[in-house]
Amino acid sequence: PTIYLKDYTPPAYLVDSVALTFRLAPKATRVVSRIQFRPNPDHENRDFFLEGEELKLIWAKIDGVDITPHVTDKGLSCEVPDAPFLFEAEVEIAPEDNTALEGLYMSSGMYCTQCEAQGFRKITYYPDRPDVMSVFSVRIEGDLPVLLSNGNPTGSGTGFAEWHDPWPKPAYLFALVAGDLIAHPDRFTTMSGKDVALNIYVRPGDEDKCAFGMEALKASMRWDETAYGREYDLDIFNIVAVDDFNMGAMENKGLNIFNSSCVLASPETSTDANFERIEAIIAHEYFHNWTGNRITCRDWFQLCLKEGLTVYRDSQFTSDMRSGPVKRIGDVIDLRARQFREDGGPLAHPVRPESFQEINNFYTATVYEKGAELIGMLKTLVGDDAYAKALDLYFARHDGEAATIEDWLKVFEDTTGRDLSQFKRWYSDAGTPRVSVCEDFNDGTYTLTFKQQTPPTPGQDVKPPRVIPIAVGLLSPNGDEVHSTTVLEMTETEQSFTFEGLGARPIPSILRGFSAPVILERDSSAEERAFLLAHDTDPFNRWEAGAEIARQLRMDMARSGGAPDSAYLDALLDIARDDSLDPAYRALMLQPPAQEDIAQALHANGTTPDPQTIYDVAETVAQTIAEHFGNTAPRLYAEMDTPAPYSPDADAAGKRALQARMLGMITRLDGGKTAAAQYAGADNMTQQYGALCALLSQDFGGDENAAFYQQWKHDRLVIDKWFAAQIAFTAPEETAEAAARMTHHADFNAKNPNRFRAVFGALAGHHGGFHHASGAGYALLADHLIALDPVNPQTTARMMSAFSTWTRYDADRQTLARAALERIAATDGLSPDTSEMVGRILSI
Ligand code: ARG
Ligand code: ZN
Repeated sequence: PTIYLKDYTPPAYLVDSVALTFRLAPKATRVVSRIQFRPNPDHENRDFFLEGEELKLIWAKIDGVDITPHVTDKGLSCEVPDAPFLFEAEVEIAPEDNTALEGLYMSSGMYCTQCEAQGFRKITYYPDRPDVMSVFSVRIEGDLPVLLSNGNPTGSGTGFAEWHDPWPKPAYLFALVAGDLIAHPDRFTTMSGKDVALNIYVRPGDEDKCAFGMEALKASMRWDETAYGREYDLDIFNIVAVDDFNMGAMENKGLNIFNSSCVLASPETSTDANFERIEAIIAHEYFHNWTGNRITCRDWFQLCLKEGLTVYRDSQFTSDMRSGPVKRIGDVIDLRARQFREDGGPLAHPVRPESFQEINNFYTATVYEKGAELIGMLKTLVGDDAYAKALDLYFARHDGEAATIEDWLKVFEDTTGRDLSQFKRWYSDAGTPRVSVCEDFNDGTYTLTFKQQTPPTPGQDVKPPRVIPIAVGLLSPNGDEVHSTTVLEMTETEQSFTFEGLGARPIPSILRGFSAPVILERDSSAEERAFLLAHDTDPFNRWEAGAEIARQLRMDMARSGGAPDSAYLDALLDIARDDSLDPAYRALMLQPPAQEDIAQALHANGTTPDPQTIYDVAETVAQTIAEHFGNTAPRLYAEMDTPAPYSPDADAAGKRALQARMLGMITRLDGGKTAAAQYAGADNMTQQYGALCALLSQDFGGDENAAFYQQWKHDRLVIDKWFAAQIAFTAPEETAEAAARMTHHADFNAKNPNRFRAVFGALAGHHGGFHHASGAGYALLADHLIALDPVNPQTTARMMSAFSTWTRYDADRQTLARAALERIAATDGLSPDTSEMVGRILSI
């Protein structure tokens, strides 16, 4: 069934308090609930319904009297008094059989929960909706050493522990963990002097991988105090690492649960990219304490209210901890690869969707990453001070509430006096606006004329113009900035802006810092792009100029052959050797565009992309660049050496990133000698895995590949990397076969989402391989999604997005992709999650 935002009605009953007792057993856990209900005074509806799925009801009572409720596979209903009452029930569940990893389940012998979005209904009967907030008390009985839930501990003894969370919360923030776990403890003193106990709980053997996450947690807690004035509000904050988890992590009140890949870190087993991601995710989940938990969402249509804002906040944190421009460029690369792709295909949906079948299918790049872009645009439009005031008002006005996007925009309207009704279209209208620009120079007056247009998306044919903040700077022909960054506020379909008193025709630097998530269409000349690449004072747009040249070159070559010209090759060389630039920034400038991006850009420009050609072009260009770099690569490679011991800080990581680019070039020319030496001498995973990847990408490294497996076969997270590497570096005609081979490896386990994603994420991420003309990639993924769906619908449905671009390609590929999709659609008993996805993907 489809659920609509417009059908929202307030809850019939509110919950004043809830007490839960868990008697843990793998096949038969008993959950006793005591829920104090009260009719909602603001609403006349008196239908009493509690969500509940896959529960065995043992008994139920109202005000102490046994009742026989009406039970379906969706929940429970019964007659209730027209006054406050106590509902009690006991249910039985089987965590060990729960392979969907939603509700209470078991992972490597420990009990854990995932309740967002609608998992609590698999634990007990409850009004499982975010606008019902209540105070929870929990008693856990089980013979495991560590028994955790939300809030503060209130008592424990042999075989039990009790917890009380004083902050009212919706059921999706409930959590329970029980297991044989080891704590990595620490403490934090908040800005008002309160002492907080901190713990990261892990399985025995992982205790040496907690220190970095703990530092990141403390830095996050401090940052939220300084940047947003937000203080932590319980006596204890716990993080638990679990091996089987559908997503990255979860912000349960006082008890964050993490996919172990997003918290465990050590120099020997984690790459620089892992360290940065772990720091960001720890911050993200911690920041949810205020943006998500203290202020939550009225309904799931408002998901971006907490996710967009929290992603925005974690990106600010990372910018402060590391390099702002490097973070921004990385985010934009990711936005284009995942969100623009989503926005331009059958899965396009508004940042605040208006309908859904399965909410789990809307934890998307659009809700998260585009949602964060909207916060950034709002801040750009109102300014930093007004943003800070609006946020203060948001926290003051809505603390303890379940809020909406309307509430969010209202605090900005009230603090600034602005009318944000046009801005709101960003929340309701899907699709990426295309902004074209033309210019005119006359008598010292320079005019920029913009036009905006957003192509139709499923269910939305007409898109009125949106307000677009366009940050612009002007450079003089000799490279001076003659007009510093100004934000132009575009509100019309077509609009001109003028700059007076210019001595010569300036060179514009448009959409600085990527001030809006739009596609800028500008027929700039190659000279102009090269000029901006050399002179732009905005680090983002300087990178963008290079990225544009790189993309255009590959598009031209894919359409009509040719080769990189020497001006382009020399510009790359200049950047690589420019010591005034941060190595991390140089590494980004030298990063080739993803083949998926080239396909996206060709498609947008009316050319059917040929994945094999795009792959061949990428190889040719990379080889040409490597040859052009000549001796520079080994010299820079040596120069970027970082001293032992390994440190994951941004400077050292940046040097290693640039060094890895050089190693990629060198390995194309030296038969793998340098990479093999790096592999042999590496004392950290960044350099060990980097060397292995460089070797495999040139068909070397057989010995290293085998040694790597032997060295790390006891470490799941490292072996996930190894699985991915076996697929990622294959030639397109071998990719599907390599992926199939990995599914037969003794260590393949489809039930573990990380392992499944290691294989199929690598297959789907190999543009040429997944879209190979044989259709083997499509068929293999379909086989395994059909097999996984009854086991884990959420992970199956998420992986379906690999097919979302199928209509871009030629008729033969479309026939093969359609056959795979129709095979999935025709599967008996397909989960609602996967059927919604396949339906949307096929509907175009
Ligand atoms: N709220 C979590 C986060 O972004 C994501 C959890 C979503 N899980 C799910 N099964 N839909 O931090
Ligand atoms: Zn989140």
